[in-house]
Amino acid sequence: MHALSSLFVLGTCAVQTALGRPEAAIRAKREGAILKRSVDSFIETQTPIAWSKLLCNIGPDGCAASGAAPGAVIASPSKSEPDYWYTWTRDASLVLTGLVDSFAHNYSESLQTTIQNFVVSQAKLQGVSNPSGGLSDGTGLAEPKFMVDLSQFTGDWGRPQRDGPPLRAIALIRYAKWLIANGYKDTANDVAWPVIKNDLAYTAQYWNETGFDLWEEVPGSSFFTIGASHRALVEGAALAAQLGTECGACLTTAPHVLCFQQSFWKSSEGYVVSNINGGESRSGKDANSVLTSIHNFDPAAGCDSNTFQPCSEKALSNHKVYVDSFRSEYGINSGIPQGKAVAVGRYSEDVYFEGNPWYLANFAAAEQLYDAIYVWKQDGSITVTEVSLPFFKDLVPSITAGSYDTSSPTHQTILDAVSAYADGFIEVAAQYAGEGGSLAEQYDRNSGSPLSAADLTWSYAAFLSAADRRAGIVPVTGWSAEDANTLPETCERVQVAGTYAQATETAFPPGQTPNPSAAPAPAPFPSACADAARVYVTFDGRVETQWGQSVKVVGNVPELGGWDAEKAVPLSASGYTGENPLWSITVPIAAGTAVEYKFVRVGADGAAEWESDPNRGFTVEAEEQAASGCSAQKVEGSWR
Ligand SMILES: *[C@@H]1O[C@H](CO)[C@@H](O)[C@H](O)[C@H]1NC(C)=O
Ligand SMILES: *[C@@H]1O[C@H](CO)[C@@H](O)[C@H](O)[C@H]1NC(C)=O
Repeated sequence: MHALSSLFVLGTCAVQTALGRPEAAIRAKREGAILKRSVDSFIETQTPIAWSKLLCNIGPDGCAASGAAPGAVIASPSKSEPDYWYTWTRDASLVLTGLVDSFAHNYSESLQTTIQNFVVSQAKLQGVSNPSGGLSDGTGLAEPKFMVDLSQFTGDWGRPQRDGPPLRAIALIRYAKWLIANGYKDTANDVAWPVIKNDLAYTAQYWNETGFDLWEEVPGSSFFTIGASHRALVEGAALAAQLGTECGACLTTAPHVLCFQQSFWKSSEGYVVSNINGGESRSGKDANSVLTSIHNFDPAAGCDSNTFQPCSEKALSNHKVYVDSFRSEYGINSGIPQGKAVAVGRYSEDVYFEGNPWYLANFAAAEQLYDAIYVWKQDGSITVTEVSLPFFKDLVPSITAGSYDTSSPTHQTILDAVSAYADGFIEVAAQYAGEGGSLAEQYDRNSGSPLSAADLTWSYAAFLSAADRRAGIVPVTGWSAEDANTLPETCERVQVAGTYAQATETAFPPGQTPNPSAAPAPAPFPSACADAARVYVTFDGRVETQWGQSVKVVGNVPELGGWDAEKAVPLSASGYTGENPLWSITVPIAAGTAVEYKFVRVGADGAAEWESDPNRGFTVEAEEQAASGCSAQKVEGSWR
């Protein structure tokens, strides 16, 4: 202790100038160093434990997953109170994304087998009909969870959950990029792409519909789901280009998903309202938003606010509002002053197990700050704006809005303060971790004892990614190229009807080892559709319907089912209101085609009622006109 203090007295000059309060600065620096050592040592002990416990939860060989199919990631070995003996698409995909990140940094044959098993398991799952629907129209892809043998779960549940498909696409895209970079483009094309393609088609078609949030409680629009959807579409389009194909629907919809994502921001209070279009009974201060920020982290995106990067002014302001909402909520937080880390949970109104802090929430709160630190160090500059000022003031009370580069002592002061704050969130989780480093889902709000599902796979994954970011190990994604951040002038409801097909190639060739001589994967980010041969035609039908009825469009071209009502394209009611009974869908159709079509109203019993004659008609723009790419055309009509 003695040696420590004298060390810090030596190093305080810069801090003194910056803060003008030498004693407080010395104390803060000393406390930071002690905390840092304690967190260093927790991470060192916890890392091998987290790895082995995480891998225990993956079939077929995981020590806690006996009976689970190959590649099935169980949520937790807990089979009662609560029963988490299932595989959730969201949890599994988040876990796998982390595994692929590690794998890309550090090749391991056994980890690759796990990843490949996962891809194959998901190819199968996509074809399993379930209470959310089937594969033919994509609806079955949003089923939240399955049995561990990959059969359907038929009980009541909050479904659909639309974050599953984009999150799974993101995980698989990450691995596909590794394959391409190491010279296995054919494998990426044959085995991974058919699975990814279905999930991208789903995302482009259904992003603008409500569904249940990541906590499976609120039907509405979830910030997390929208963030994941945007990222998957952008990254999917780039992967398609690398594979020599295209995802036109991705390019057409992505800007509008990003546009919609902006509307969750509540500027008057400086935070993201995590659930809208149905979730308004809560404040919306929710770990949902912090998780969105860390899972869409792209070191190349700087502090971009549109994509809610961890160091963006909005994400930092949101971090403060989110964390503060728990300060007086949990008994274990009492007496901890502003500016110090506390135990955090999902949202303050939580009643599940009476509402408690979650380990993964603490790790996420830390991870966001480690991500921010990484970018600030990389950029050599930190910008404090009026929006992010309250966040910084908690940590560096004398700070004012402005830009601080490495020539200013304040730059280091901020880095030290934010590092210590981030470490604090890990320290809290460490303090309440279970015996032998086990991480359950929650810990008690008053006693701090572990609660709910034991050995939650996601808790371990959340620890491992936070520890990596703290060590400056970041995912190499580059997903957030400039074009991806360009907002359209107006937000539109563009939902592109997809085509879906069961992946048939379900085995990986052997020997996909790293290729040291392979060129790094290029990362093209196309901004326009490469395919001028098709035009994105939006059908807007004004059709009054009653509960349980739906509307489809059918016509003379294959894209519209060739006059076969069974193959008609379903429209979306996401824009339907009492005054404007709008049903809408966008369908890519070959340029120059003469199209005839009709709207069809489908009853709750499935019976189809066709519009009266004559057929509606129009001609799709010619190829020359469409050559600018992603060409769009709209046709509309009211029911007759
Ligand atoms: C790489 O992975 C192996 C296990 O596959 C592990 O033992 C080793 O510590 C890892 N190295 C790094 C730098 O993470
Ligand atoms: C659909 O998108 C529009 C335009 O961004 C938005 O106003 C609406 O709330 C969205 N609805 C859903 C359910 O996503």
